[in-house]
Amino acid sequence: MGSLTGKVAWVTGAGSGIGQAAAVALAKEGATIVLTGRRSAPLKETAAMIKKAGGASEVKPGDLMKAAAVTKIAKEIEKKYGRCDILVNNAGLNILNRQWAKLTPADAELVIDGNLASAFYCTTAVLPMMRKHKDGVLIHTSSVAGKVPSLLSGPAYSAAKHGVVAMSHTINMEECVNGIRSCVVCPGEVATPILDKRPVPITPAERKRMAQSEDVGDLIRYVACLPPHIVINEVMINPTWNRGYVASLQRGKS
Ligand SMILES: NC(=O)c1ccc[n+]([C@@H]2O[C@H](COP(=O)([O-])OP(=O)(O)OC[C@H]3O[C@@H](n4cnc5c(N)ncnc54)[C@H](OP(=O)(O)O)[C@@H]3O)[C@@H](O)[C@H]2O)c1
Repeated sequence: MGSLTGKVAWVTGAGSGIGQAAAVALAKEGATIVLTGRRSAPLKETAAMIKKAGGASEVKPGDLMKAAAVTKIAKEIEKKYGRCDILVNNAGLNILNRQWAKLTPADAELVIDGNLASAFYCTTAVLPMMRKHKDGVLIHTSSVAGKVPSLLSGPAYSAAKHGVVAMSHTINMEECVNGIRSCVVCPGEVATPILDKRPVPITPAERKRMAQSEDVGDLIRYVACLPPHIVINEVMINPTWNRGYVASLQRGKS
């Protein structure tokens, strides 16, 4: 029996990268996982990984930028399980033309909806279920760009991820009296498919030195397994070989 046996976890962005690793890690602790992303095929791959590890999951595809789609999935979770104990609010995206010089209103909307509005929709959908049980953990994937604005990540992404950090802290401020805990995870560079959208391509050797999906997935598992009387409000996780630091060291030497 794992420490999350009997719990239901909804993991968004579960078909790849951090979400996939978190889903597998939580399943290994005994939670039943609801897997969401827009594409079914990658979610089915995650479900197969969970099955192989002896865990339980189900695939519920949907576009989380659409509030109605989020409400529908949350209602299905409530109907089937009567609870959602853990939300891993992880789905996110970025764009290639991210600098102000190239940013279009449509791309700004995509990045803000895909990282911030979607996170709000999922949060508002699960809180009523958590309040009912006076228990619940929300873990949101923001970014280091959600702490320090980053031109590498782009203005729209930085602004949206700052919003996710603020969202998480306000959940604790209001919902602590209901036994609900919220943690915002701020990763630096993690070797996942989102990096394929970087304007300057990243080499396989550079990806190897970065944090890996499993590193962040394990952190999410740790936060989800904390005892109910404590919360880790915010955590940053970075590769030791931090390319930002290394670049500034090199600038300092020249
Ligand atoms: N990798 C990094 O360096 C890094 C650093 C800091 C923060 N992050 C954040 O970490 C989170 C996970 O990203 P990742 O790095 O693991 O990259 P990823 O592999 O691209 O994962 C993002 C996932 O989100 C899903 N998704 C995107 N938009 C969605 C939508 N509208 N509705 C439903 N699902 C959606 C994608 O699946 P579909 O395309 O099938 O929908 C995909 O599985 C993101 O929030 C990202 O911003 C990543």
